[in-house]
Amino acid sequence: MDIQGKTVLVTGANRGIGAALVRAFLKHGAGKIYAGVRDLSAMPDFNDGRVSVVQLDITKPDDVSAAAQKLGEIDVLVNNAGVMTGSDILSATSAQLAADMDVNYYGTVRVVQAFAPLIEKSGGGVIANVISVLGLAPMSYAAGYSISKAALLSATQAARASLKSKKIKVVGIFPGPIDTQMASRLPIEKTSPDVAAEEILKGLIEDQEDIYPDPVSKQVSGIWSSNPKGLEHHFATM
Ligand SMILES: NC(=O)c1ccc[n+]([C@@H]2O[C@H](COP(=O)([O-])OP(=O)(O)OC[C@H]3O[C@@H](n4cnc5c(N)ncnc54)[C@H](OP(=O)(O)O)[C@@H]3O)[C@@H](O)[C@H]2O)c1
Repeated sequence: MDIQGKTVLVTGANRGIGAALVRAFLKHGAGKIYAGVRDLSAMPDFNDGRVSVVQLDITKPDDVSAAAQKLGEIDVLVNNAGVMTGSDILSATSAQLAADMDVNYYGTVRVVQAFAPLIEKSGGGVIANVISVLGLAPMSYAAGYSISKAALLSATQAARASLKSKKIKVVGIFPGPIDTQMASRLPIEKTSPDVAAEEILKGLIEDQEDIYPDPVSKQVSGIWSSNPKGLEHHFATM
């Protein structure tokens, strides 16, 4: 797709990958970027008149419907907002399992349902969901998160089928370890959010349906596409 002049909404845009995506869309010539945030005071200054802040906690139906009413029409929606409780499947509390699902799955689906009609109104466009390589196979230290991202992968595929006739392309983004607050406790090499965001924009411009925006995710994609069971076993050792 051509990013030039497009109207974009990014959720969870105040930090991490979301803030990097706002910077990347600005660089690639987007016409207007709505930066969705839970806490308006947390928004960094992007120093560009094309960015407008929108109050958007994706777990709050009132926030989502008010934002949809306010925006009217958009071309691109990036569902980036997410959380990770870091819970093991055998010891996770119901609250931890629910927290991962509430944001990463139910919240994201809520935003897709509210904003797809706004993209349809503008004549079609793109919905890009930030999933994770852990949506392809789980890691035990983050089982609740992996489960929520596997659900989001299935929702992404379901939305792709349902929205095709409305000229809305649905894209899955599968990052590996990215150097943000979410991954701060992972003692492994990570890709910078700006490098990952640039790769995501490249994937959108090239009309990729599945985007692997860093070296680890590209490697994971290779294993998964030829040997999904092998990926499960590989992650189980980590
Ligand atoms: N970092 C990684 O290694 C990695 C790998 C694979 C996938 N991802 C995915 O990439 C996305 C961005 O994560 P990140 O790494 O940039 O993490 P991050 O730095 O922790 O940022 C998460 C963002 O999501 C927002 N958010 C959380 N709950 C929200 C809610 N209910 N409504 C709206 N916004 C909410 C946060 O807002 P607040 O500041 O208000 O909390 C923050 O802006 C997530 O979907 C994550 O699962 C990350």
